[in-house]
Amino acid sequence: MTKFTDMSRQELMQEHELLISRYNTYKDMGLKLDMSRGKPCKEQLDLINGMFDESVLHGDYNCENGTDSRNYGIIDGIPELKRIFAELLDISENELIVSGNSSLNIMHDMISRALLLGVAQNDRPWKEYSSVKFICPSPGYDRHFAICGLYGIKMLPVKMNPDGPDMDAVEKLAVEDASVKGIWCVPQYSNPEGITYSNRVVERLAKMETKANDFRIFWDNAYFVHDLYEEKKERVMNIIKECKAAGNPDRPYVFASTSKITFPGAGVSVIASSKANIDYAKDQIKIQTIGPDKINQLRHARFLKSAQDIYELMRRHAEIIRPKFEAVNSVLTEELAGKGIASWTTPAGGYFMSFSTVEGCAKRIETLAKEAGLVLTPAGATYPYGIDPNDNNIRISPTVPPLDSLKLSMHLFCVCVQIAAAEKLMK
Ligand SMILES: Cc1ncc(COP(=O)(O)O)c(C=O)c1O
Repeated sequence: MTKFTDMSRQELMQEHELLISRYNTYKDMGLKLDMSRGKPCKEQLDLINGMFDESVLHGDYNCENGTDSRNYGIIDGIPELKRIFAELLDISENELIVSGNSSLNIMHDMISRALLLGVAQNDRPWKEYSSVKFICPSPGYDRHFAICGLYGIKMLPVKMNPDGPDMDAVEKLAVEDASVKGIWCVPQYSNPEGITYSNRVVERLAKMETKANDFRIFWDNAYFVHDLYEEKKERVMNIIKECKAAGNPDRPYVFASTSKITFPGAGVSVIASSKANIDYAKDQIKIQTIGPDKINQLRHARFLKSAQDIYELMRRHAEIIRPKFEAVNSVLTEELAGKGIASWTTPAGGYFMSFSTVEGCAKRIETLAKEAGLVLTPAGATYPYGIDPNDNNIRISPTVPPLDSLKLSMHLFCVCVQIAAAEKLMK
C-alpha cells in the first residue's frame, strides 16, 4: 500500500476522484447518523429498568439509620450509598458527599463558590484576583472548558502525553503564577483519549509546588469503574491519599457519578476531598438545599447493593459496548492503516476514542461528514476556546449507534478522512 504522503500529485488526484465517488454513494443514501456524544445506548439503559420495580423499595422508605428518605434531611447523602462510594473510590465516608444526578453540576458549583467565596474559610474569593487561570490538559472534556468560558477563567492548554498531562509544563505554570488556581483532570480512561494517568504523573500533581496556596485539582473520575476489558483493567492512583501524603490534603476535589452506571439524568453523583474541604462545602450546600433526592439514593443503594455488584453490572455494560469499540478499531484499521494519515487510541475503558489525522483536516472532515448525514463531535470542541491548534483531532464516541450503523458511520468517516487528507496534501 502506498502512503498518501508518498503519492505524487497525480496519484493523489486519482485517489481523490475514487474517494469522491464512494462519498457520493453514501450521500445518496440519505443517512442520519450521530456519533457526537458519549452516551449509553438503549440496551445499556434497559439493564437498569429493574430499579423502578416495586420490589426495590418494597414500601420501605427508611434508610438504614432510620431516616425517612421521603422527607427533608441528610445533606451529605444516605449512609448506605456513601459506604458503597467510599469502597469504590477507596476514600473514607466522612470525606465525601453523595448528591444529585450530575457531577458536572457539582463541579460547576464548586467553581462558582470558589469565585464568590474562596475555597476555605479565610481565603480570598477567586473573583477578587485580577485574573483566574486554569490548566487545561488538551484534548479534554468540552464541558469543563465551557465552565471556564462561562466565568471568564483563562484556560491554559497543556498537551496530553500517553501517560497524562505534560507535567513539566503543568509544574511550570503552577509554580510561576499565583493566578493559576487549578487544573482539570479526567485521570482514568480520559475523555477523549481513554488514557489513564501514570503513577508518576499522579505523584507529581500531588507534590508539585504551586504559587497559589488555594490551588485545586478538579479530578473528574467519571470513568472510575468503566472497564471494557476485565484483563486490561486500569486504575489510577488515589489522588486524595497522594495529596495527603505530600502534605497537600486540601488540593484535590474528586468527582464521580452513576450517569454511566445507571441513568444519566437520574443517577447520583459524588464529591470527595479532605474532611476540611467536605465540611466547608457542606456548610455552603446546606444553604442551597435542605437535602438531596434521598428516594433516588435509596433506590440506587438497594438496586446496586454493593461495590461487587456494581463491578458485575459494569461487566454487563462492557459486553454491550466493547464490540462497538472493537468495530471502530477494525474499520479504522481496514480503511486507514499504513496510509500515513491517521492514528487513534484503543482504550481499555471509558466512552471515547481519540483520532488524529493530517494537520488542518479536522474541520473539513466534520463538514464532509455532516453533508453526508453523519454528525461528529465538532472539531476543536475538545480544546479550550474550541480551538484545536493543529486542527487534526476528532473525538469518536462509539457507544450510542447500533453496531450496523456504527460500522457504516465509520466507513463514511474514513472516506471523509481520506478526502480531506488528499485535498490537503495536493495543495
Ligand atoms: C469526563 C466527564 N465528566 C463528567 C461527565 C458528566 O457527568 P455527569 O452526568 O455526572 O454530570 C461526562 C459525560 O460525558 C464526562 O465525560
